Amino acid sequence: NIINTYYMLKKAQKESFAVPAFNFHNLESVHVILDVAKEMESPVILAGTPGTFKYGGVKELIALVNAAAEIRNINVAIHLDHHHDLNDIKYKLDSGIRSAMVDGSALTLDENIQLTKKTVELCHRYACSVEAEIGQLIGQEDDMIVESVNDPYTIPEDALKLAQQTGIDSLAIAIGTAHGMYKETPKLDFERLEKIQNLVDIPLVLHGASGISESDIRRCIKLGVTKVNVATELKIAFSTALREYLIANPSVDDPRLYNELPKKAMAQVVKEKILICKSEGKY
Ligand code: 13P
Ligand code: ZN
Ligand code: NA
Repeated sequence: NIINTYYMLKKAQKESFAVPAFNFHNLESVHVILDVAKEMESPVILAGTPGTFKYGGVKELIALVNAAAEIRNINVAIHLDHHHDLNDIKYKLDSGIRSAMVDGSALTLDENIQLTKKTVELCHRYACSVEAEIGQLIGQEDDMIVESVNDPYTIPEDALKLAQQTGIDSLAIAIGTAHGMYKETPKLDFERLEKIQNLVDIPLVLHGASGISESDIRRCIKLGVTKVNVATELKIAFSTALREYLIANPSVDDPRLYNELPKKAMAQVVKEKILICKSEGKY
């Protein structure tokens, strides 16, 4: 069953854990993520960027996740990650999506509020929960590249204004994480996160969690983060194992064979993140 993320994140907020959101692309990632989630009894969110849905097909990916969830007897949320086009979101709602992010973080505060408000009006008619973003993450996600900008971090008062004026269900914040891995150890602005948490009472979302240490993620969860987004570490685990395997076994051409170790490597990352988020047993 494909569900929204409202109750999931409310439960996480109340019980001080976070729901991991894993970016997925294909059959293999859906199987790996849902098998580990089932085994560890963890709630999980499968997140897809516009590029992912373009690659896999909206209807195809939804049908795949639906069947995979039904067979495992679990509910799962498919979440629209970094979407911003209302027509595109509407098409995906009509296709069965019930959790969406509207990313207006590159806009001015007023434009972000306008876009987010319209998205909430549309999504709530479908009982689809909405995550907005304020403040910017450096790095590349999908085909969206953000170079360094001055003061990209979330301004707590702006976060409050966005939350109050739009009726969003959760809020992605920028406190020093970036999409992708890090060249230098990231320094997160926990004081800022604390200020945001004191002002805004909806669940908070941490993007760019690949490359963030266990202790930093735990500290974020203590300060109100209820959803932790992981993409890059899954891709690296899978592709590194696949590359090594194919180089070592140049005559293997059967995907059922060459995907085996990459899937195990990806499963290991999923397991680690569930433990870090303390979502094990919280299904
Ligand atoms: P990473 O690629 O750094 O894990 O970021 C994922 C993300 O924020 C997806 O929205
Ligand atoms: Zn992100
Ligand atoms: Na990252």
